[in-house]
Amino acid sequence: TKKIGILTSGGDCPGLNAVIRAVVRCATGRGWRVYGIPYGTQGLINLKQGNCNVEDFQLRDHGFDIPGLLHGVDILQFLSGSILGALNKGNPSDPHIAREILDGYRLLELDALIALGGDGSLDIISDLAKQGNWNWIAIPKTIDNDVPFTEQSLGFDTAVDTVTRALYDLTFTAASHDRIMVVQVMGRDAGHLALRAGIAGGADVILVPEQTPQINDNILNGICQKIVQLRQTKRQFALVVMAEGVHNQNGVKEKYIGDTLAQQIQIHGKRLCETNEPDFGYLRTIETRATTLGHIQRSSTPSSMDCLIATAFGCKAVELIAAEQYQQLVIWSQGRADSKPLDQVIPLIKQRHQAHCCPRPVSPDSPWVHIAVP
Ligand code: F6P
Repeated sequence: TKKIGILTSGGDCPGLNAVIRAVVRCATGRGWRVYGIPYGTQGLINLKQGNCNVEDFQLRDHGFDIPGLLHGVDILQFLSGSILGALNKGNPSDPHIAREILDGYRLLELDALIALGGDGSLDIISDLAKQGNWNWIAIPKTIDNDVPFTEQSLGFDTAVDTVTRALYDLTFTAASHDRIMVVQVMGRDAGHLALRAGIAGGADVILVPEQTPQINDNILNGICQKIVQLRQTKRQFALVVMAEGVHNQNGVKEKYIGDTLAQQIQIHGKRLCETNEPDFGYLRTIETRATTLGHIQRSSTPSSMDCLIATAFGCKAVELIAAEQYQQLVIWSQGRADSKPLDQVIPLIKQRHQAHCCPRPVSPDSPWVHIAVP
């Protein structure tokens, strides 16, 4: 029999609770004990510092239940967020803090720890793994979908649905007012979410950092020309999806970059009107608005795909521990859960962080999408 821990690190995303449920089900089914560590690695530090007890952490395959009726764990996969809490700060790879975390792990007498994290957390986890004799399994979770090797990270599919729905909803107000609606989508430095949801939601222009690192005059021309084309076909409104990772004209990251782009489209359109080019007359009346979708993208009910991936990831993590195959990243590959050694994954993440560059090229080969590139 084994004792294992599970924690959620970094920002939350839909599907975390579904993984927790799968791990509890699979592990307790094998007669193992599962400890849920609150607030990521901070929970282990708190334990070491005597702020809580080992028993406080134990997860069971039943919870807030009335015997014979619905069990708490039965609905867990439908809940967003993390029942364990998540913390997006602190520096666990600092050697002193790493020692406290390792001490917490030892106090729980764990055989292995399952950590759900995005690319930042995975980097930290691999540093921690090197600093002690302990066993980690990592599970990729992020709506940004920027973890190498996995075709999909947990939470991405739900976020795509949320943004797609938002685009659908925004279409009606944009159309009623003949407006150019700029929609700012999360993704940190990556454009996967903006691209996938932009295509699904029928956007007229999609800007992703992989293709458009920053706004410039060529991009603004491209967008204005697209608006002209649409207006020539009597379509007055347009949806412009913009990933938050696209920088401003000075190459600086802005929190509300969508607002900046909306203003610049309007100014640029007016400027083009002042040339003698007759087609630019269509731009005389353009009115723009910006919507920043924000954290709603992380908080919707997990999609069936995310519930499926979560369940497969949780069970795979338990299988890996049963086989004593540690320091692995669970991945989604060709419709099933698989794994990759962390030491193959981490160099790619580190390289990317050092170069401040985006995860991997995105190929928008859809006939409906017009990326405003020069
Ligand atoms: O990495 C996930 C993510 O949601 C990014 O898309 C976004 O830029 C960031 O986290 C927001 O972080 P916070 O919740 O700390 O504001």
